[in-house]
Amino acid sequence: MPDHREFIRGIPKAELHLHIEGSLEPELMFALGKRNRVRLPYDSVEAVRQAYRFVDLQSFLDVYYNGARVLVTEQDFYDLTWAYLEKCREQNILHTEIFFDPQTHTDRGISFGTVVNGIHGALEDGGNHLGISSGLILCFLRHLSAEAAMATLDRALPFQDRIIAVGLDSSERGHPPEKFASVFDRARAEGFLTVAHAGEEGPPAYIWGALDCLQVSRIDHGIRCEEDDRLMKRLVQEQVPLTVCPLSNTALKVFGHMREHNLKRLMDAGVCTTVNSDDPAYFGGYLNENLYAITEAFELNQSEIAGLMKNAFNASFLDASKKRFFLNEVAEFENAAGAPEARQ
Ligand code: ADE
Ligand code: ZN
Repeated sequence: MPDHREFIRGIPKAELHLHIEGSLEPELMFALGKRNRVRLPYDSVEAVRQAYRFVDLQSFLDVYYNGARVLVTEQDFYDLTWAYLEKCREQNILHTEIFFDPQTHTDRGISFGTVVNGIHGALEDGGNHLGISSGLILCFLRHLSAEAAMATLDRALPFQDRIIAVGLDSSERGHPPEKFASVFDRARAEGFLTVAHAGEEGPPAYIWGALDCLQVSRIDHGIRCEEDDRLMKRLVQEQVPLTVCPLSNTALKVFGHMREHNLKRLMDAGVCTTVNSDDPAYFGGYLNENLYAITEAFELNQSEIAGLMKNAFNASFLDASKKRFFLNEVAEFENAAGAPEARQ
């Protein structure tokens, strides 16, 4: 096994862009479908994997929302989240900030509490039994109306102690951040932090909109920033973190091949980049596999890989003392890996 894979597996990691519904592996999808008597348009787990050939974001979202129909009870949301946390333990992800899409479920008649309590219960057990630190981010579906997002925010208020931030996801083109200005104004006034998907398929103007209008702390994806020099300057100057998802971008044909991905150019330009898995059950890999893919495409060295992890802990919503603790863990790992006796 090449050295870099061992280094990637061992380094303490944080993940900031993970849709919990996107971690639903076909095996669990089938098990939950059976448990809840939800029919799936596939005959087997292999047929599900065959269906995961996407041409763009929308072709993926259609399959992803269909798969989410098997999630019905609080236990289902717990099981889904627990399976992801076991992956975190396997991959040495020490801190994760996960998205959930409540409207995907409440629009099917499932209560907001069922969704949040199931996910939160698993996150709490993940903290207590696996030592994994976590945060939960509510995403509004941007293809639905601002009124529907506002109603979802209302539903979230009684659960505010369990949700650190709100975000914006789903079909990007034609749904600019400005559509949700009043929802994000209200969310910030209620004390939520904010993030938003922008510049995944949508233009750089959507990244400006997320920064200026929604006042986000991080941009999810943001890769199309490169098309706008003034925006690049701002991202570098303000060190706005981008949560980049390499395997997602190649699966959804934003880039034809990993070697064509702009992550390394963004890193070299001084943009604060982090690496994440987005919807790992659909895109062929969790965080380690994303890191293998970019390291092999761009021949990243250990210091560059460690730099991405430090960016992730720095860009997280952890408090300053926890950030310091995790950053020290990364630095210690890096030093030990670089020490001559560790190389033998
Ligand atoms: N929902 C789940 N994954 C997404 C992505 N990559 N972009 C937008 N919405 C999403
Ligand atoms: Zn995403």
